[in-house]
Amino acid sequence: MPFKLLLIVLKLWISYSSQPGCPVISCKPLSKKFCAELNGKQLFINSDPPFSDDYACSLLQIVTAYNQIPKITPTTRYEFPVRPKPKPDDFGGYNSWHIKYKWNENNTLAEGTHPKPCQIDKDCLLIIGEYGFCNCGFDGNYYCQPKIDDIPGVREESKDNNDNTMALEHWVWYKRKVNYYVWTKVLPECAIDLLYDVKEYSRRKP
Ligand SMILES: *[C@@H]1O[C@H](CO)[C@@H](O)[C@H](O)[C@H]1NC(C)=O
Repeated sequence: MPFKLLLIVLKLWISYSSQPGCPVISCKPLSKKFCAELNGKQLFINSDPPFSDDYACSLLQIVTAYNQIPKITPTTRYEFPVRPKPKPDDFGGYNSWHIKYKWNENNTLAEGTHPKPCQIDKDCLLIIGEYGFCNCGFDGNYYCQPKIDDIPGVREESKDNNDNTMALEHWVWYKRKVNYYVWTKVLPECAIDLLYDVKEYSRRKP
């Protein structure tokens, strides 16, 4: 095998194998102290709430903790504790504020639509020629992380307003949709009920 080809094969292998691997999510009853439990690559969401009203589970917490676990091995076990519930979004009374926003086609996928399966960032080519990010979904597979311009509704809303503005609370809602898009696409029903931030995200636009 020519040396150059060997290098390419090696590089590809490293880029695939250095990814920790995506968790596969499902539901099962756990202790009320925990939101979820990671067991190897199996992530179990607690299907047996309720907790008291002051406590809750968030998807962000689970994903953040998951990303901090350096290497998932078949024996890795981790419990995600229930946390005090944060206050809902507070715009300080400024929720009628508008921000400037102009839809930019350059930030949308060059090919295909979301959810778009991927293996490496290069699979997530944008119209402008840059690459997006290839992130874990919760079904064990990777998907391209959309930019806000690829979220349904953003284009229409920015076009509706001749001055290219959008209500601040709509902006926050779309931004959240971007952050949660890849994860929530593949969540089971019990997770949507349990995770307050997913529930919030799944709400219709304010
Ligand atoms: C999109 O990219 C093209 C080519 O680089 C550029 O001319 C154009 O201004 C970009 N559009 C926006 C809205 O930034």
